[in-house]
Amino acid sequence: MTPIIPIEPRDANFDIGLAEAVRILRSGGTVAFPTETVYGLGADASSAEAVARIYTAKGRPAFNPLIAHVANLDAARIQAIFSPQAEALAKAFWPGPLTLVLPLAATATVCGLARAGLATLAVRVPDHPIARALIEATGRPLAAPSANRSGHMSAVTAAHVFADLNGAIDLILDGGPTRIGVESTIIACLDDGPRLLRPGGIARADIEAIIGAQLKEAHPSTALSAPGMMASHYAPRAQLRLDATTRSDNESGLDFGGRFAPSPEVLDLSPRGDLVEAAAHLFDYLHRLDEAGKAIIAVAPIPHHGLGEAINDRLSRAAAPR
Ligand code: TXA
Ligand code: MG
Repeated sequence: MTPIIPIEPRDANFDIGLAEAVRILRSGGTVAFPTETVYGLGADASSAEAVARIYTAKGRPAFNPLIAHVANLDAARIQAIFSPQAEALAKAFWPGPLTLVLPLAATATVCGLARAGLATLAVRVPDHPIARALIEATGRPLAAPSANRSGHMSAVTAAHVFADLNGAIDLILDGGPTRIGVESTIIACLDDGPRLLRPGGIARADIEAIIGAQLKEAHPSTALSAPGMMASHYAPRAQLRLDATTRSDNESGLDFGGRFAPSPEVLDLSPRGDLVEAAAHLFDYLHRLDEAGKAIIAVAPIPHHGLGEAINDRLSRAAAPR
């Protein structure tokens, strides 16, 4: 059984839990930990053996590259090459839910397996006290995909991680539910200007305000190397019926803005219609409705602006045929 250590910053338990996690990571093991977006399944990104344990635990195809989590921009520069636009984005949004895909630096220590052999690297500086303390105390970049089995929904609580990965990983640090609830926004800054690879915790408009231009869409070739973009992903057991304006008796309901009649079978992502609140509840509510057992979940329409782009992206992948 995988141990769960509850830790909270400023708590006596914090140092004990952190020390145990660091010990495991330095000896090549795997530790699930909270970030501000979703729980990550961390391992030493400089060790191929440690990274292999992530792929095994997740049952993830080895061609799917991982994000390297680092402590700050200086640490990121050791791993990757920043164009002026990449630098502006890092300065605007780090620490925070932004991942940059950049050319690999000659000084990089992230192993080839973590990059799935690519000459590019996804890096991010997370904004969570536990994640940051863990990266700093371990003193290595941490490869950390979302802490769920490949193809399943991302985990936003330690209980989700346990349900999916118990026995397959070495430790879970329980820092409570995550604040943002959807994964980071991924932007590629390679040779031809910023491209959006995955909508996420930072809205498109906020990125475009920094680069002073519209984001380009993902290149088909980059899309191939980012299987987080696979059509069927984030899949609950139940089928999703999207853009549902009504709910029938044989369905449970994932509501937004109080459209469905209140019922124990309905969870409202945000009764007041707030997309930030809705993102924070998304995976937790999908998990809960899935566990409740109805074969179909009717999902109310969700606006596409702001974090709505990431929410709709995850929902359409969860609804894709598989
Ligand atoms: O919020 C997040 O980003 C969370 C937390 C734990 O940090 N992590 C996360 O990791 O969502 P993961 O592995 O589930 O998704 C990372 C995505 C994958 O779709 C992967 O294909 C893509 O990033 N990716 C990683 N490296 C890449 C690269 N060099 N080029 C293109 N895509 C890349
Ligand atoms: Mg994932």
